[in-house]
Amino acid sequence: MKNITVIGVGYVGLVTGTCFADMGNRVVCLDVNEERIAHLKQNIMPIYEPGLEEMVRRNVSASRLSFTTSYEEALNNPEAPAELVFVAVGTPEGVDGEADLRYVRAVAESVAEVVDHPIIIVNKSTVPVGTGDWVADVVMHRQANAMSFSVVSNPEFLREGSAISDFLNPDRIVLGSLDRSAAEAVAQLYFPLRAPIMITDLRTAEMIKYASNAFLATKISFINEIANICEALGADVKEVAVGMGYDKRIGRAFLDAGLGYGGSCFPKDVSALTHMANVQGKHPQMLQAVMQINDDQRRSVVSKARELAGGLIGKTVGILGLAFKPNTDDIRESPGIDLVHMFQEAGAVVKAYDPVAMLNAARVLKDVKLCEDSYDLAQGCDVVVLATEWNEFKNLDLDRVRREMRLPIFIDGRNLYDPALMYGAGFVYRGLGRGYGQVTANGPTNNHSARNGASQPVVNWNGRNAAVARK
Ligand code: NAD
Ligand code: UGA
Repeated sequence: MKNITVIGVGYVGLVTGTCFADMGNRVVCLDVNEERIAHLKQNIMPIYEPGLEEMVRRNVSASRLSFTTSYEEALNNPEAPAELVFVAVGTPEGVDGEADLRYVRAVAESVAEVVDHPIIIVNKSTVPVGTGDWVADVVMHRQANAMSFSVVSNPEFLREGSAISDFLNPDRIVLGSLDRSAAEAVAQLYFPLRAPIMITDLRTAEMIKYASNAFLATKISFINEIANICEALGADVKEVAVGMGYDKRIGRAFLDAGLGYGGSCFPKDVSALTHMANVQGKHPQMLQAVMQINDDQRRSVVSKARELAGGLIGKTVGILGLAFKPNTDDIRESPGIDLVHMFQEAGAVVKAYDPVAMLNAARVLKDVKLCEDSYDLAQGCDVVVLATEWNEFKNLDLDRVRREMRLPIFIDGRNLYDPALMYGAGFVYRGLGRGYGQVTANGPTNNHSARNGASQPVVNWNGRNAAVARK
């Protein structure tokens, strides 16, 4: 059993603290956000993460997990002085894509000023290469009492929506430090997880995190580029991904074409790595392309909608899904939120619905009708765009959706539906890279019947839903 302090109770910190407590350690979670801590003390979760609430309750009841806003209380409890201090504060995108380290600095200063005994500072936030050395400098210069300390980088690889299971079943644990014995002390915490543990130097550990996220983002942009080519040539990117994925050297994971990556990490981390490279006089051309392709995916959906609906001014567009991915309430860099803004700029009236992220979305969206469910959303829409692949969107009552809509244009930003099924249900359906054009000697056509056995409805601009004519 170790005495652990976790600083920052967001998606990473709260999951980390709770899982370490569940593994039998005594954990104090600290945050400067007083409302968050007050809520946590009443078992009210600040984030939506499946399974988290039950685990927090269990460990609070067992007196292994507690919450505070006081650095003194979190670090210097005489009965349980903190041995390991995990830093899990945000590192958002700053100027020119550079990671903003203001919260990391604030933590380093506070810890240095308050702690009254030797500690190991373990950095879990994603930070630019060299930050571990910088944190050590900040602590050294701020220390109230000259206490010995070490800095270990321990990047986190969990995903939102499956954070607990990812934390408890990691593919690997990466630890970087100039102090091998400090890294080994952190490694001991993870032994029960039986995962491979890699100990390396600080800078290498920091780079492993950026390289991993950049690689996953690259896979996504790669398949999106292939999707665009598929679309032009009449191939189906979903099947292409399956066919590629059987090759063990490639793997099927992260080859889902669609609206591209969002969230609080890939966008900012690819930007931060690009910035780091630029500062060193390197030219990260591939990273630039990854970001460009990702931006273009969202724009392409707006173009498709404009083309199919015969313009967007005054049209009603419904966005299904506002969280950046399913099973989270996180809307940071969410494709769904971006689409709301892009359709509004294009002159459309926008409606939106998300099963979990409505409260967060309401804080950032203006002039959007937030709906009760998918059918309320569909009502009166000329275009529906599926932006997040929530389970409840996977088996919609398609007849009902189509009946509610004014024009039956359905753009599937996550390629959830089978095009033939959607055509059969009377939708003008577009996925991304689903090969709805068959290639002929004269170029792609729009006739799907040869492949899917169902012909695609076309829109009659002057009419309502009933006027949809079959080719
Ligand atoms: P978050 O924004 O959800 O939470 C950060 C928390 O830190 C907030 O509650 C904030 O109030 C608190 N905080 C800020 N300054 C503080 C201070 N001085 N003292 C105490 N608390 C302070 O962030 P997150 O999504 O959990 O990400 C944290 C870090 O982990 C980032 O660097 C991120 O890149 C990285 N990461 C995130 C994920 C993820 O899935 N979200 C996964 C792996 C790594
Ligand atoms: C990602 C990484 O997967 C984690 O390993 C990492 O710890 C985390 O970032 C981080 O550093 O914060 P997360 O952002 O929670 O996790 O979610 P992912 O499942 O990776 O999805 C990221 C985005 O990519 C989502 O918008 C998702 O819709 C999109 N995506 C994912 C695709 O467009 N296609 C895919 O094939 C996979």
